[in-house]
Amino acid sequence: MLDGKRILLVIGGGIAAYKVLELIRRLREQGARLDVVMTKAAKQFVTPLSVASLSGGKVFDDLFSLTDETEIGHIQLSRAADLVVVAPATADLLAKMAQGLADDLASTLLLATDKKILVAPAMNLRMWLHPATTRNVAALRKDGVLFVGPEDGDMACGEYGPGRMSEPAAILSAITTALQGETRIALPPDIGRAEKPLAGRRLVITSGPTHEPIDPVRYIGNRSSGKQGHAIAAAAAKAGADVTLVSGPVALPDPPGVSAVHVETAAEMLAAVEAALPADIFIATAAVADWRVETAAVQKIKKSSAPPQFALAENPDILAAVAQRRSNRPRLVVGFAAETENILAHAREKLQHKGCDLIVANDVGRAMGREENEVTLVTPSGSESWPEMRKDEIAAKLVRYLAQMLKDRSDA
Ligand code: C5P
Repeated sequence: MLDGKRILLVIGGGIAAYKVLELIRRLREQGARLDVVMTKAAKQFVTPLSVASLSGGKVFDDLFSLTDETEIGHIQLSRAADLVVVAPATADLLAKMAQGLADDLASTLLLATDKKILVAPAMNLRMWLHPATTRNVAALRKDGVLFVGPEDGDMACGEYGPGRMSEPAAILSAITTALQGETRIALPPDIGRAEKPLAGRRLVITSGPTHEPIDPVRYIGNRSSGKQGHAIAAAAAKAGADVTLVSGPVALPDPPGVSAVHVETAAEMLAAVEAALPADIFIATAAVADWRVETAAVQKIKKSSAPPQFALAENPDILAAVAQRRSNRPRLVVGFAAETENILAHAREKLQHKGCDLIVANDVGRAMGREENEVTLVTPSGSESWPEMRKDEIAAKLVRYLAQMLKDRSDA
């Protein structure tokens, strides 16, 4: 009848535990596979050795046992089962379950499982009739926990009344009935899945500095670490976007899940960005060098008495070039503004002048090379300041913000 069914049996600490040995024997006869967990108290009533001999498997009893954790892990133990059975379910175990406590292996499994739980209570009649137990039982029934028993009868303590654990045959029949229905407990549809607000969107982002060669060994560069841009690329990929990261020279690994293009100069960065379009979103976080040496020397410039003079040429403004495209302009073009003073005014000016949809403004002193940043978002309709956060937190928040902006524009 129970061929191939996997049951996680939790044995609680009560005198009725001896009857569970008979239940184990019958379950095995029916073809069920058993994982058994004993509470500390249960081991005072039956030995793990007798349980293991009858169940034909390992007996788990310690939440922090490293071998058990590496071999199977408590979450897996509770998920592999088709049904979880607690017998005897003591007043203490029922109270823990009702409260959601998880301070040992048994109670942790009962909280972590995604399967139905069937309990066979067993306790002294006054414990069973106590208002606390009545409350706990009502709460557990409301949570969908199944009950078998308890029965009226003589108790080990000499009293008579409700509290006797059901006989193994009755528990077996309750298990069979439970297994005939759906035992998996589904999560609400939007929980348990990573949020993917940028699924189906394409995003191109620049990050890091650029290096503009002076000669084969020297260059004009800046202190940008690429941390913020790389963090945004990673967060966007996690949010489901198809991400191309165009990175200048940085000491960071390529974030997982993005396709990275490595460049040195502003001209190369612009070419790589254009090759990566079209996209829904373009974000310029790179600190692009504003000028390059007009003609870089082919050979290393020798130290001479007179310092060399360089003619500088203006580099392309990648952000402005993308924002002002006539064809294939991404629907959202986002720039960063690293300033040392008048941050908001400069950000507003940059938004207009470059033609982008959003400027993320920050104070150079608070941003460059650090793990944290404090930013203000400026759009044509207003501004919004975020408190200081780690760059990866800013990245995740910005990604959600952009996903919402894109959605609003699609809905409009
Ligand atoms: O250097 P500036 O303050 O103008 O940078 C503002 C924004 O423009 C940043 O997002 C930066 O990545 C971008 N930018 C660019 N190409 C440049 C200069 C800046 O994409 N040549």
